Amino acid sequence: MLSKLRTAFVRHGLLGVAMHAVRRAHSFLPRAEDQRFRGAFGSYQEAMASVRPGLLAGYDNDAIVDMSFEELSTIRSSDVPVLVLLERLLPNVKCILDAGGHMGTKYRAFRERLDLDNKVRWIVWDTPAIVRAGRKRAVTEGLAALSFVEDIAEAPPADLMLCSGLLQYIDIPFVDLVRQLPAKPPHLILNKVATRDGPTVVTLERFGDKAEVPYQIRNREEFVGMLDTLAYDIVEEWVVPEFSHVIPEAPQLGASTSRGYYAKLRS
Ligand SMILES: C[S@@+](CC[C@H](N)C(=O)[O-])C[C@H]1O[C@@H](n2cnc3c(N)ncnc32)[C@H](O)[C@@H]1O
Repeated sequence: MLSKLRTAFVRHGLLGVAMHAVRRAHSFLPRAEDQRFRGAFGSYQEAMASVRPGLLAGYDNDAIVDMSFEELSTIRSSDVPVLVLLERLLPNVKCILDAGGHMGTKYRAFRERLDLDNKVRWIVWDTPAIVRAGRKRAVTEGLAALSFVEDIAEAPPADLMLCSGLLQYIDIPFVDLVRQLPAKPPHLILNKVATRDGPTVVTLERFGDKAEVPYQIRNREEFVGMLDTLAYDIVEEWVVPEFSHVIPEAPQLGASTSRGYYAKLRS
């Protein structure tokens, strides 16, 4: 390094040394294409409007339905609190609505450990692109207990709604989502909810070289207050350390905290 600085000085003087330092500092910064998160926007719509030209915008695209399917279909450490809660609640649960359940990824993962097949109807609500692909896969694999809805209002009344890794991606307030349901589920398990202590911010998450997807980091207090408005009491709460993220372009916002909640409908 010293010899490179010396060469820069001999060839271009102090300006050369400064240029070398800038180039070197740059090589340590994440390159735009390597960054998972880009930008800090005031709303989902603003983030969506800022998707890079040439990339798909948002989750509802046939080209990205298979992305991460295998990985999401396994039990990760972030799933353990959900698995433990399901094990406890299953005796009183006959129908689970898995909102943002992809092609039944968590159903596939959890049926390895829980007796789901003969005891529970597992209904996934997801984007139309995922639902189309998920239905085909479920038929091919003979997964009779797994079914899909495109419109959450068409889901049957569920005993439990699971939202695992969904909330950062939905384009409507969570209150509106719950109010579309035919009936409020008595049990709510929310996992991998991106939160922060400051105002809600939306960034763009990069999916390889294919897409950018708005990713919402919610104000924690507002979110907890909203559960109360919906008449849910939080029974258990946990942190998911591996889903904490800093937006490289906005480090002043600090790291997000990913949380999980188990809440019960007040009777
Ligand atoms: C990170 S994946 C989570 C998959 C799975 N629940 C898990 O925990 O592994 C996020 C899911 O949310 C779904 N999603 C995103 N936006 C959505 C929307 N507006 N309506 C329904 N589902 C949506 C995506 O299609 C995807 O399946």
